[in-house]
Amino acid sequence: MSKVFEATEIKGMQLSNRFVRSATWEGMAQDDGSVTPALVDCMSQLAEGQVGLIISSHAYVRPEGQAAAKQIGVYKDVLVTGLRQITQAVHGQGGKIVLQISHSGCLANPKLTSQMPLAPSSVKGVSTSPCKEMTVGDIQELIEAFSLAAQRAKKAGFDGVQIHAAHGYLMNQFLSPLFNKRTDAYGGSVEKRYQILREVLKGVRSAVGSGFPVLIKLNSQDFLEGGLTLEDSLRIGRLLQEDGIDAIELSGGSLRSGQLTPFRKGITNEEKEAYFLEAAKVFKRAIKVPLILVGGIRSLAVAERIVEQGWADYISMSRPFIREPGLIKRWKSGDLRKASCLSDNQCFGPAAAGEGIYCVVDKNEKQKGTERS
Ligand SMILES: Cc1cc2nc3c(=O)[nH]c(=O)nc-3n(C[C@H](O)[C@H](O)[C@H](O)COP(=O)(O)O)c2cc1C
Repeated sequence: MSKVFEATEIKGMQLSNRFVRSATWEGMAQDDGSVTPALVDCMSQLAEGQVGLIISSHAYVRPEGQAAAKQIGVYKDVLVTGLRQITQAVHGQGGKIVLQISHSGCLANPKLTSQMPLAPSSVKGVSTSPCKEMTVGDIQELIEAFSLAAQRAKKAGFDGVQIHAAHGYLMNQFLSPLFNKRTDAYGGSVEKRYQILREVLKGVRSAVGSGFPVLIKLNSQDFLEGGLTLEDSLRIGRLLQEDGIDAIELSGGSLRSGQLTPFRKGITNEEKEAYFLEAAKVFKRAIKVPLILVGGIRSLAVAERIVEQGWADYISMSRPFIREPGLIKRWKSGDLRKASCLSDNQCFGPAAAGEGIYCVVDKNEKQKGTERS
């Protein structure tokens, strides 16, 4: 059997294969971040499609950390009931699901939050809107919020949590010398820029206990002038390992990284797939923690090569599952055609319009088919 279909485990979390659905904002929650039947259905379809691990979309840990409309929230206890419906649906299909916990920092949307976004530093020209530089008190509150969010995730039945420290969100802002100009204990050297993440991880760990998987999504680099470099990211990876992280999902870039965003377009051949692969190889040589690679993986052959060669332990995808939640089941059944996702990013449109995410190309093709018949 191909290694990608092997059963494995991450900190006792049994996974039926090495495929991961990377966190994907669905735009399907209610305005207060609570779960809707559409979201439960979406997660259930993913589990039915046999992806080994589902990572939820980014759930905001405090109200002022919300980035997008209809994003899921985990900032108060009453949200646990809805979140539990998701875990029950996924477990009912034999799947596993981790909650991604996040704060958007200066990427928060003040129109949604009615508050000035928080940031490590208030640097003109770096954020799109004015930001409040976080005080040490704000940082302590944030650490508490991440810990409580993780505790709620556990109560809701999630199999683990993933701290979002990639794509320009708040934890990434602290790690990045472009966004973090602080001169206190939380800024300066890479170790100091990492300090908040160390405290968040420690808080989360003590909230969920030693046996509960705690993962992280990390930028390999920011692809911004003056931003996080691969060298610093690797140093952070080592620190995370020392501090007991259970798996690292490696990504890169942010919305502002031009062509080099986390979700690059035009992946038309195998050479363009797995665009963070070189960074993954660097990580694998230095770090023992299980590595999950995301970014443009579309073919089973590429996924298999990555795992067989030991360049990463898990294969993570986002956009392919929007069009084909059953992709892994299809590959397992012997239909080895690559994912039908065109990587055109049209899927952001319906989510931004409040309709919930879907593949626009697929919908148009199905509509044409119906008209013809
Ligand atoms: C519509 C959409 C929403 C996303 N939402 C999130 C998110 O909530 N959290 C996150 O870490 N990444 C998010 N991402 C990034 C993906 O997880 C992934 O890193 C990226 O799309 C590259 O993988 P892919 O080429 O398989 O799509 C999102 C991507 C898309 C297309």
